[in-house]
Amino acid sequence: MKVLIIGGGGREHAIARKISCSSRVDKLYCAPGNAGIGQCAECVDIEVSNYIGLADFAQKEGIDLTVVGPDDPLVGGVVDVFEERGLRVFGPRKNAAIIEGSKAFSKDLMKKYHIPAAEYEIFDNPKSAIEYLKKSKYPTVIKADGLALGKGVIICMSYEEAVSGVKQIMEDKQFGSSGDRIVIEEFMTGREVSVLAFCDGTRILPMTSAQDHKRAMDGDLGLNTGGMGTFSPSPFYTKEVDDFCKRNIYQSTMDAMKAEGRDFVGILFVGLMLTPDGPKVLEYNARFGDPETQVVLPRMKNDITEVFEACIDGRLDQIQLEFEDNAAVCVVLASDGYPGHYEKGFAIRGLEAFNEKEDYYVFHAGTKQSGNDIVTNGGRVLGVTATGKDLKEAREKAYEATGWINFANKYMRRDIGKAIDEAK
Ligand code: AMP
Ligand code: GLY
Repeated sequence: MKVLIIGGGGREHAIARKISCSSRVDKLYCAPGNAGIGQCAECVDIEVSNYIGLADFAQKEGIDLTVVGPDDPLVGGVVDVFEERGLRVFGPRKNAAIIEGSKAFSKDLMKKYHIPAAEYEIFDNPKSAIEYLKKSKYPTVIKADGLALGKGVIICMSYEEAVSGVKQIMEDKQFGSSGDRIVIEEFMTGREVSVLAFCDGTRILPMTSAQDHKRAMDGDLGLNTGGMGTFSPSPFYTKEVDDFCKRNIYQSTMDAMKAEGRDFVGILFVGLMLTPDGPKVLEYNARFGDPETQVVLPRMKNDITEVFEACIDGRLDQIQLEFEDNAAVCVVLASDGYPGHYEKGFAIRGLEAFNEKEDYYVFHAGTKQSGNDIVTNGGRVLGVTATGKDLKEAREKAYEATGWINFANKYMRRDIGKAIDEAK
């Protein structure tokens, strides 16, 4: 079969590698892809925002299956454009991707269907939000309603900070129209866990757990980023937590979406907080996580194209997911300065050290080909993943492999997966 992936980051590289392991796949394309993806797929120069161009390409090439990586095209309705042309595509339609596209929608959904989450209020003007903040407990959490590159959440320690947060989002329009509405939410404490799940509109099949490290610096200090590293499985995601989420969160979310006439087909990413009062939903995403995918898919045994197709055809009951009984750690190599200002265009050395090496993977996020060199081309440059018999071994191997790579302003966190030691 011929497969097309839409996207061009580390997540799409991990998806491309996994798809290219399938004996069912004769030809793999990725639009727009990147320098690393080019090693396992043919990159096509079409932007993810060009839905018509992508669908034209899929039609012309006779693509049998298209897999959508990023949130923007999903929330924007790329799946609807493909379906209107009778093209097979994996991802939620626009009316279901709203579960990520609008935090106000997802909060109201959870409330209506009794899915455990933080208390909240929604505001569409700054004046009433600020009025409410006078009586709030601190810290409190302010979230832009729409997509904001993972940066639309502000944790406010005081009333003054909260007022300035509201002004940034609603008056200065830091996230554009995504900030026309905000959610003000109760602050929760606990361990965070990411669970990605395959969904066929009716059923939901969770994959193994993972944990992200969102802050830029060691010790969870510094600014929020897209994610500086991940590990899988999470030792905090115990059988008890899993049972609770299966009873109260996963299937309830699928049933809620169905009841609303928004059948969810694709990947549902459930961001959980393991609070002292039990697991609660922090957020939903309508797609694979980045860099969660870089630790989850290398551990998956199934032919992923079969699972994608079962979701599209509404027969996920025929699939049993299987994961290796091992662990994986991904350390992101970033450009120093990220998520603020950074320089790019530096030659990357040492990539060939990963060739043919079992248990070690290098996923390209922000890279591009420049003459004979592969050069840095973004804040998050590479994700270095290693698997091992347990998290400790995977972590040691991942950090060993980060040493094989060099570029001028290489930066990484040194404590990815350190939570593992605390868990003991
Ligand atoms: P989100 O994009 O909604 O996952 O938020 C980004 C990050 O902000 C999360 O990963 C948490 O670390 C933090 N966060 C979001 N909501 C809350 C909350 N209600 N309480 C505490 N931290 C939160
Ligand atoms: N790693 C978090 C995300 O993909 O949103």
